[in-house]
Amino acid sequence: MFSIKRIVIATFIICIIINTQISYSAVPKDVTPEAEINKMKAEQDSLYAIINKGFQKIKPMLEYSCYDCHSTQTKEPWYFNIPGVSSFIKSHIDEGLEHLDFTNGFPFKTKESLLEILHEMKEEVEEGEMPLLSYRIMHWGRLIEGEQQDSLFQWIEKSEATLKAFCDRYSIPYNTEKSLHDEKEDTE
Ligand code: HEC
Repeated sequence: MFSIKRIVIATFIICIIINTQISYSAVPKDVTPEAEINKMKAEQDSLYAIINKGFQKIKPMLEYSCYDCHSTQTKEPWYFNIPGVSSFIKSHIDEGLEHLDFTNGFPFKTKESLLEILHEMKEEVEEGEMPLLSYRIMHWGRLIEGEQQDSLFQWIEKSEATLKAFCDRYSIPYNTEKSLHDEKEDTE
């Protein structure tokens, strides 16, 4: 009776050991070799460079309509010196910049993925939400409309397609695409 109990316990322990070993070996290791990752990053960099080239063409309209809040190249207007007004504007600049910074071209500095931010740019412009109304009151004609809007949207759609094709090729989720790049920047 006593020995049967021992055998049962021993078998039980052996089962646990075998089981944990099986499940350890079943844990998928990160098998992507470094060379493959470097190849992906190099490809990503060259795609970004192509997108940035297109960005240079649409940049002037963004400089006119968006850079006051979404770049570090802010031109302080005359009314910036009016007490109260300046802090109101400054808070918009700080907030705008925090969300999206065009200063160094593409890839933009943003907390979101590049695909998300491109999508939002289109949406904000399409709905006339950006530039902010409070800004447009002081700066007439800053809405991006007509032919300008067409070329902006063309660039956005082309860039989205390029980024999505890259993600599809490597099975990278769309919302994490930029992290490859950020990771690289961190280690530089
Ligand atoms: C007067 C300052 C100002 C101007 C000019 C301006 N923005 Fe903004 N923008 C902001 C602020 C503030 C926010 C964050 C709050 C919000 O979403 O309303 C923002 C948010 C955004 C976002 C959303 C970012 C996110 O993370 O959700 C996009 C996209 C954007 N702006 C695009 C543009 C574009 C494109 C232009 C030019 C056509 C433009 N903005 C002009 C102030 C500005």
